[in-house]
Amino acid sequence: MELAAIEDLVREGGARVSRRAFVDNDVYELELARVFARCWLYLGHDSQLREPGDYFTAYMGEDPIIVTRGDDGVISALLNSCQHRGMRVCRSDSGNSRYFRCPYHGWSYNENGKLVGIPRLKTGYFDELDRENLGLVRVPRITNYKGMIWANWDPEAPTFEEYLGGMKVYLDLMLDRIPGGLEAVEGVHKWTIDGNWKFAADNFVGDMYHVPVTHGSAHSIGLRQAWSDLGYQINPGNGHGFGGEYGGLSAAENETSYTPYIKQIRAHLAEQNGDYINKIVPLGHMTIFPNFSALDTLRFRTFRVWNPVGPEKMQVHAWAIFDKALPDEIKQSIRQQYIFTFGPSGVFEQEDGENWSQSTRSTRGWIARQYDLNYSMGAGHEEPVEKVLGSNLPGQMGGIWSEINQRGFYLRWQQLLKADSWNTIREEEKALGADK
Ligand code: FES
Ligand SMILES: [Fe+2]
Repeated sequence: MELAAIEDLVREGGARVSRRAFVDNDVYELELARVFARCWLYLGHDSQLREPGDYFTAYMGEDPIIVTRGDDGVISALLNSCQHRGMRVCRSDSGNSRYFRCPYHGWSYNENGKLVGIPRLKTGYFDELDRENLGLVRVPRITNYKGMIWANWDPEAPTFEEYLGGMKVYLDLMLDRIPGGLEAVEGVHKWTIDGNWKFAADNFVGDMYHVPVTHGSAHSIGLRQAWSDLGYQINPGNGHGFGGEYGGLSAAENETSYTPYIKQIRAHLAEQNGDYINKIVPLGHMTIFPNFSALDTLRFRTFRVWNPVGPEKMQVHAWAIFDKALPDEIKQSIRQQYIFTFGPSGVFEQEDGENWSQSTRSTRGWIARQYDLNYSMGAGHEEPVEKVLGSNLPGQMGGIWSEINQRGFYLRWQQLLKADSWNTIREEEKALGADK
């Protein structure tokens, strides 16, 4: 794509986004190469790999991945595509195995991706096959950040912590809440939505505006009280963002057995860190650029990844997540709340999915594509987080309805599409820093 065409996709500081961003194949191809093959992507939680030989399957962009734990305890990410004819060598979602035997002609790979078995090696290949170089393709960079497994194809990419940037201090408020870390409920929910993946990521990065309308039914069936105008959206930079009502998403809802527990933890954290904790813990809705999102509420917590499947389809992977040290009955409550509200059968999830598929469908037409989408809410009313919440907190913030985070998300997306490498982005950022 021409540079001018990419510049045209996101304009006015992120307040206008071309609909081509959601339906155009050229944009999509560039996105696979310059966003998904370059950014840190969430694969799953290390509680899904308890024993040596445990594995699960995931995606990085459209590339299928096997994530394994070797005998040495080391976690690897391997391209789930045979070096012979491309067949998916691992067909299950998860399990325990020392090797993966390709179902097509039987090449076998061990849990580190090494090619260890070839039928007819002598009578077919005359023992001449270059086995050493025909292992499964390895994802070169992988990190376990406080139990979260992230991977990146690009050797030039920043470290995961640099990539998080200002988001790190906020994410840590979710990951370090109590000793013992987090755990994923066994099993991953997977379903497809006929919609562009960015509609989901942009909803989770900063869209409280849809909640009273799209999820109005939650109010009408008594699941929660009416929404107030008090809350925040925080844009810590690098395309990430989170926000919600002050005091936690669903602050006004009926309590569950988890609610007093999380409030107690929050009071403890506030003593250590300052009063701002009472406003922003639990963290509400969030997206870590590009396609990891989470909800951290007073009733439950979920992680999810929006995997692209072409411009107009996504496959969602979703987990219910809790603190490992919780008593079993509270874990049970979190699981039930998650299933009732989110996950494929959740009332909120179905309402969101309908919006994202219809936004995509009604954007595809030639005429519709000529008109930009509008992300202008709250533009010009951002303030430094430390000015509002103190404590040297990083980033900029707006009120609960502000679209500040979506603007940050699309500007970062455009920056990646434009740049030919991470080094270009580093130079750009250095130049900007020097200007200040
Ligand atoms: S495609 Fe895997 S062995 Fe042939
Ligand atoms: Fe929603």
